[in-house]
Amino acid sequence: MSIQKSFLGLFALLSALAQLTLAFPAYGSLHGLSERDLASAVASLDITLPGTPPGPPSFTGTKLIYDALHPYIPPGPLDIRGPCPGLNTLANHGYLPRIGIATPAQIINAVMEGFNMENGIAKFVTYAAFVVDGNPITDLLSIGRKSVLTGDLADPAIYVEYSNTYGAGYYNLTVAQELRNRRILQSIAENPEFDFTSPRYFTAYAESTFPYTFFVDGRSAIDATTGLNKGLHISNATLFFKDNRFPKDFWRAPKPSSANGIVQVFTAHPIAPGKNAGKVNSYTVDPNSGSFTNFCALYYNFVNQTVKTLYPNPTGILKRNLAINLGYLYESLPTLPGSTVKCDQLFPYGE
Ligand code: HEM
Ligand SMILES: *[C@@H]1O[C@H](CO)[C@@H](O)[C@H](O)[C@H]1NC(C)=O
Ligand SMILES: *[C@@H]1O[C@H](CO)[C@@H](O)[C@H](O)[C@H]1NC(C)=O
Ligand SMILES: *[C@@H]1O[C@H](CO)[C@@H](O)[C@H](O)[C@H]1NC(C)=O
Repeated sequence: MSIQKSFLGLFALLSALAQLTLAFPAYGSLHGLSERDLASAVASLDITLPGTPPGPPSFTGTKLIYDALHPYIPPGPLDIRGPCPGLNTLANHGYLPRIGIATPAQIINAVMEGFNMENGIAKFVTYAAFVVDGNPITDLLSIGRKSVLTGDLADPAIYVEYSNTYGAGYYNLTVAQELRNRRILQSIAENPEFDFTSPRYFTAYAESTFPYTFFVDGRSAIDATTGLNKGLHISNATLFFKDNRFPKDFWRAPKPSSANGIVQVFTAHPIAPGKNAGKVNSYTVDPNSGSFTNFCALYYNFVNQTVKTLYPNPTGILKRNLAINLGYLYESLPTLPGSTVKCDQLFPYGE
């Protein structure tokens, strides 16, 4: 490359970065801003009516996902990637916009299409993430945000060690339960701010099952003789976790799936929701947090505490759009797989 060319490239990059820092990003969360900063951010953004949540697709079987229309292209310097290997992989193959910024509807469609994630859980997870991390004015979310540290599963050495020790080279449910337990105990011992209450309580257990459910090829997910899912081979786990890339010839899950095996992972080493009290090894159970025996509390805690703390007194379009998105979150509850209880709808900003 000539010096002039690389100089021009650098210049373009720097001016793009400068614009990013000057204008309020269209995908940026709006919580935590002063009233004045919020007003000026809202004035600079495109006001958008939240898109309606997509329903289930008509074809729900397995099919080739790593096809000619979805080549792997690693992210460029301005593309956003985050802590979720599922969403990063979808973006690296163009199932999500490669820039890493998307609407909730695009995310729901992409996880259903690329991984055969079940419609109800796709909506629930996406709207929960969107209300916390997304921009309710523009209806955009970046895939780059991380919640509370609970110890990544994808630390390159540890899932390999655990898959070898507990799964004979495969990430199966035994590996998921041992690895999740180890990460929780480690967080209690090392992270004074460790917060393992709802909603992170649920997402941490759910995520530990996702590699076993969604990264395994749909043609071989169920062994014809044993009827069991053997799990995810380390070589393919590394492609997803490290490169955020589908294995060659990847076919998605054989049927719409959610956090299969989550109860087994939890029951193997049950730990009640709670948090460290500002120092290590001070884990204190929180009886008000949603848990596996109190599912609606997941939704109640989320709306009454998480969302209310982030947005105590929204007004105008912000309030309208937050209320619409919280409505979509509530409507996803009865569509969750295995949902039997009916939770009351909460209206934190009035009916
Ligand atoms: C439906 C929308 C989804 C959203 C909004 C989402 C979001 C996230 C976020 C924010 C995290 C990081 C949690 C943290 O530590 O702070 C995460 C982790 C994870 N996600 Fe997703 N995710 C989604 C769907 C998926 C799908 C479809 C898969 C699998 C195909 C998946 C697999 C995982 C895994 C395995 C982790 C744990 C990574 C680790 O601990 O190293 N996610 N996700
Ligand atoms: C995981 O794999 C190991 C080793 O093959 C096996 O002993 C264990 O039963 C498997 N776990 C499950 C839940 O199938
Ligand atoms: C890795 O993934 C590919 C595509 O999904 C699959 O065909 C292959 O069997 C997997 N490898 C192993 C060792 O399971
Ligand atoms: C949620 O908060 C409202 C207002 O503070 C309160 O009236 C309601 O009882 C709370 N609901 C739940 C289920 O905690």
